[in-house]
Amino acid sequence: MIRVIVNGIDGAMGSTVVKCVEATEDMEVVAGITPTGWNGSYLTPAECKEEADVLIDFSHHDGTKALVDYCVEKGLPAVICTTGQTEEEMEYIKKASEKVAIFKSANMSLGVALTAKIVKEIAAKFPGCEVEIVETHHNRKVDAPSGTALMLADAVMEARPELHVNSGRSGMAKREPDEIGISAIRMGNVVGTHEVMFGTANQTITVTHQAHDRALFADGAIAAARFLVGKPAGLYNMDDILAD
Ligand SMILES: NC(=O)c1ccc[n+]([C@@H]2O[C@H](COP(=O)([O-])OP(=O)(O)OC[C@H]3O[C@@H](n4cnc5c(N)ncnc54)[C@H](O)[C@@H]3O)[C@@H](O)[C@H]2O)c1
Repeated sequence: MIRVIVNGIDGAMGSTVVKCVEATEDMEVVAGITPTGWNGSYLTPAECKEEADVLIDFSHHDGTKALVDYCVEKGLPAVICTTGQTEEEMEYIKKASEKVAIFKSANMSLGVALTAKIVKEIAAKFPGCEVEIVETHHNRKVDAPSGTALMLADAVMEARPELHVNSGRSGMAKREPDEIGISAIRMGNVVGTHEVMFGTANQTITVTHQAHDRALFADGAIAAARFLVGKPAGLYNMDDILAD
């Protein structure tokens, strides 16, 4: 049995992870962490006493250091699904991954990982094209642009390193040729839609990924947790699962 700790256990995603783990035969949730103390959960990672094989995190980036310190101290592999980390917090995660196995992806869907590959290929095939990304999420999301939109922009920039992100364009300025515009829409209960548009003089190619159910990300996190157990220290992502 793979023993799982869920950080952010009473959140929309944390509670979905619990349901999805319950539906597996080889995994069990042994503890939960959340600052609300929901249902007897631990308030902070440092307080958590249970032994586990892996931790799945869907919480808030403000808790990054506390979470990472705990995982390093315990030698506990962590699947960090939380988005919105600052550069400093990302550096902290990278440094910790020298000591413990960490899986980090802004989007836990295999479909999005494949979308990123396709997007990179299109960007390489049309070197002069204009690239715009539109992302739509539910009205409770706090970070913008979404981590997935930035991940897709990174995929484009792997093929077109001269580009840079212009997020939330407004005011009196023309579009610069070397920018990737990202527009964020927040509305209702949308789980997550990402459209990457490539415009040339005479055509537009649009690649769209729509998530219909949060269980998509929970299932991805569970697959990543299974992948991570027993792995040596390092920073892993969806490409490692695709290659596995
Ligand atoms: N990687 C992915 O595929 C993916 C998919 C969906 C959501 N997410 C990300 O996961 C995170 C959680 O999403 P959600 O929809 O479940 O949010 P949510 O607001 O429903 O839940 C957040 C959880 O984190 C806890 N929390 C709040 N502030 C905290 C803090 N400072 N320290 C530690 N814990 C804190 C809350 O108590 C709650 O349990 C977000 O960053 C979101 O963008 C990632």
